[in-house]
Amino acid sequence: MEHRIANSLKILTEADKEACETVKITENEPLTNKKRLFIESYGCQMNFSDSEIVASVMRDAGYATTSDVNDADLIFLNTCAIRDNAEQKVRNRLVHLNFVKKKKPGALIGILGCMAERLKAQLLEEEQMVDIVTGPDAYRDLPRLVSEAETGQKGVNVFLSREETYADIAPVRLNSNGVTALVSIMRGCDNMCSFCVVPFTRGRERSRDPFSIVQEAQRLFDAGYKEVTLLGQNVDSYKWNSEVNFARLLEMVAKVSPELRVRFSTSHPKDITDEVLYTIKKYDNICKYIHLPAQHGNSRVLDLMNRTYDREWYLERIDSIRRIIGEDCGISHDMIAGFCTETEEEHQDSLSLLEYVRFDFGYMFAYSERPGTLAAKKFADDISPEVKQRRLAEIIDVQQRISLERNQRLIGTVQRVLVEGTSKRSEEELSGRIDQNKRVIFPKEHFKKGDYVNVLITECTAATLRGKAVAEVEAI
Ligand code: SAH
Ligand code: SF4
Ligand code: F3S
Repeated sequence: MEHRIANSLKILTEADKEACETVKITENEPLTNKKRLFIESYGCQMNFSDSEIVASVMRDAGYATTSDVNDADLIFLNTCAIRDNAEQKVRNRLVHLNFVKKKKPGALIGILGCMAERLKAQLLEEEQMVDIVTGPDAYRDLPRLVSEAETGQKGVNVFLSREETYADIAPVRLNSNGVTALVSIMRGCDNMCSFCVVPFTRGRERSRDPFSIVQEAQRLFDAGYKEVTLLGQNVDSYKWNSEVNFARLLEMVAKVSPELRVRFSTSHPKDITDEVLYTIKKYDNICKYIHLPAQHGNSRVLDLMNRTYDREWYLERIDSIRRIIGEDCGISHDMIAGFCTETEEEHQDSLSLLEYVRFDFGYMFAYSERPGTLAAKKFADDISPEVKQRRLAEIIDVQQRISLERNQRLIGTVQRVLVEGTSKRSEEELSGRIDQNKRVIFPKEHFKKGDYVNVLITECTAATLRGKAVAEVEAI
């Protein structure tokens, strides 16, 4: 492999790593005297998936989605509360929306999602121009809350449910390219990681009926989709009536068609079983890629974080992934720098964990104290912003180098790419992903969205592979 790298490697310099907190707006739908809804989503894939449920509920109430905020009668921000800067982003956006509302006084603004759940009615006081506040389990109530707001009252519902999974609601595919789709399989989280606001914003964990999940995957496949991502905060604890666990669910979805790729996110190191790993190995269409957030490399800090595993346990799970699925299985992580009381030596343990595992990529964050969490109650946020940022930069540096090295290993190999559309930079190039979730850009030729194409990888950055389609070569 090494000589092929030396011959063909051309390192591209731009770092276009996917940002975790992305924003996506709604597409235009045909309008037939309908009212118009603009939704903007922040945060994780669960939120993007939820916005598709919201659009479906509001469509039934007579709203069509629009991508032009100035044109909207109703503006929803589906918000994230995971770190302080996620909330700041939304507050800044509200300042801009204030101007929009001045130009169109009848327009209503709703704050949905995790920030709505965290701040509840307090949001109405802090952000005077907000008309509606709705938590993640109350989206069926949105038409009523909107009607209430139309009469001048504020509409608030932040009730968290133990049952709601929106299983019967057919999502309006706002976030989709027609090839890949998000499918929620569970909601909430029963883990109490001490840094995390999610158990408070999304409530108790509950799993969705497996038959409704398989039916949704089948419908997507029948409509031409080629990939589904099964979503939950902790997919490995999926459970339906003691009969269907996550391994079984994966198998049921994989059997929809060998041409339908199956992805999933997020796995928790304490729960991912060998049974799940063997199921991934068994089905060619289950992607050989696992997002396994580590959060830290030191056992004392992991204990303070209440992650319920230690460094050895995490590394054993990594070894099992490599042993059962293979060395080439894509693995990514989340890592937090500067958690309460973290020492310099403990920070070094996070760096050494990255070196040991050699992750394909990672999402890395500076610790941000969240009010109400266990860590906020029990520990002082005692690492200065400068030290947090320096440690974070060190983590990112190591990961960038390893990501580049992991990508370089693929130069000279042929990979099967599912085409998702044209590349951002050129209409003449296509963009898609390989099994291990790495993005590949290659010349379009006669290929199109939704095709599986064998691509010879010829160059890479830490974030992206580039190559050229090859005919009749078996992908490896
Ligand atoms: N359910 C997933 C994580 C969801 S939140 C899991 O258990 O792994 C996504 C990521 O945000 C987390 O993995 C963590 O790395 C980061 N995160 C969560 N709370 C944070 C906080 N208070 N400060 C900084 N990063 C945080
Ligand atoms: Fe948060 Fe932990 Fe639940 Fe993930 S598993 S959502 S980090 S509490
Ligand atoms: Fe953010 Fe809520 Fe997801 S806090 S990360 S949108 S579960």
